[in-house]
Formats: sequence, C-alpha cells, structure tokens
Amino acid sequence: MKLGVLGGTGQEGRGIALRLAEAGFEVLVGSRSRTRATGTASELNSIRGGKTGIRGALNLEVATQSRVLFVAAPFAGAAELVFSCAPHVAPETTWVDVTVPVVFDARRIKMAPLEAGSGSEQLAAGLPDPGALVAALKTVPARLLGELAVPLDCDVFVCGNSGRRKREVARVLSRWPGVRTVDAGQLDAARTLERMSALLIGINRRYRVHESRFRVVGL
Ligand SMILES: NC(=O)c1ccc[n+]([C@@H]2O[C@H](COP(=O)([O-])OP(=O)(O)OC[C@H]3O[C@@H](n4cnc5c(N)ncnc54)[C@H](OP(=O)(O)O)[C@@H]3O)[C@@H](O)[C@H]2O)c1
Repeated sequence: MKLGVLGGTGQEGRGIALRLAEAGFEVLVGSRSRTRATGTASELNSIRGGKTGIRGALNLEVATQSRVLFVAAPFAGAAELVFSCAPHVAPETTWVDVTVPVVFDARRIKMAPLEAGSGSEQLAAGLPDPGALVAALKTVPARLLGELAVPLDCDVFVCGNSGRRKREVARVLSRWPGVRTVDAGQLDAARTLERMSALLIGINRRYRVHESRFRVVGL
C-alpha cells in the first residue's frame, strides 16, 4: 500500500515518512518543489541505511497516488494545499490531518481563531467527502518521530467521523514501535487535541525539553 505525506520535507513530515517506511510501507514524500522532494527522499533513505522505500514527488502527484495521505504542512498553508489536491484524489483515499493551528505571538502560543472549531473540521468541510478526513498525531513531537532508534512510547489519538477510516489509520500507526492508538471520538475531538498540542508546546518551553507527549492510564 502506498502512503503519502503532503509537506513531507519538514520535520514532522520527514519523521512520519521515516516511521511509515520502517513499518514496511511504500512512502511518497510531497513538496511544492520536485528537487526538495527527491532530495528529502534520498536523505531519508540514506538514514534508513540505503533502503529505497521512500520516493519524492510534487504534492499533487503524491495526493493522486496515495491510499492514506498525511497532511504535514503548516496549518496556514494547509487549506490551499488540501483543497487544490482534493478534486484529483481518489474517493477511497483517507486524509490524515496532523496540523495544529497555533499562532506564535511573541512569547505566547495561541490557537488560531477558526469558525469550524478546529483546523481538522475546517479542512474536512472543504473535501468532497468530509468523512474521509481523520485527525491523528497532533500530540506527537516531530523531533522524536525522526529518531528512529527511539520507540515513540506514547498514545496517538485518532478522531474522525468514519469508524472505518479511523480503524484504517489506527492499523497503519499501530505498526510503529511503542505506539498505542486511542480512538478519541468524532472529528470535533480535534478541538481538544489541537489544544493539547498547544499545551505540550508550552510544557516543552517551560521545562526546556522537546519530547513531552501523552499516555492515557487506565485503558
Ligand atoms: N513540530 C511538531 O512537533 C509537530 C507536532 C505535531 C504536529 N505538527 C504539525 O505538523 C505540521 C508540520 O510541522 P513542521 O514543523 O514539519 O512544519 P514546517 O517545517 O514549517 O513545514 C513543513 C513543510 O510544509 C511545506 N510548506 C510550508 N509552507 C507551505 C505552504 N504555505 N503551502 C504548502 N506547503 C508548505 C514545506 O515544504 P516545501 O517547501 O518543500 O513544499 C515545509 O517543508 C504543522 O502543521 C504542525 O503544526 C508539528
């Protein structure tokens, strides 16, 4: 199964691509620039010891070829990216939104004001099938994703309005060492998950760490 990462040249997208490839999937890394995409893919393949499971392509090419499509661009550019690709994407493709709509204002972190309630709901509303979008990985630190030798050791919250799509994403992410996926409910739970991510950014700053994350006890 081919999986894609839109905006896959950033820290979050690179980590997602690496972990997916290590889990045995064929991965496409997307970018607005073919050179950046192919360059990132070869860099990631060499991190994996010269394996060839990751290829680079333009975002639109990645979108049309992927069965599961991760959106890993900054939220400010995500709507334009998603909505420009959406008309060309197969109906069976599941979108996985990892974006967090935060605004860094001097030393404070704020949620971007959004009419839809969350970034994920805003993106989903613009898709031909809003149920095709699932939110996941919003509370998983990018830096840790890129450290392949370290198991993630955390829960990954998955929310969305289609149980089938959520299970599909959970099956993919459960192949990552140290990950347990937790069904966080309908897509409107992204409102909470995006705030939990902002909470982690603040915790990281105050404690001068980079890798705080969540584990639910009692499950
Ligand atoms: N950092 C974390 O720990 C963390 C944790 C959870 C979720 N996230 C979320 O993950 C996403 C990616 O984070 P990141 O730190 O990797 O971001 P980033 O490095 O700022 O951006 C990722 C990639 O997106 C592309 N991009 C930038 N602006 C764009 C635009 N206007 N339109 C289309 N593509 C654009 C760029 O690729 P090209 O220039 O090659 O096209 C860039 O390499 C964000 O939404 C963030 O909120 C981050």
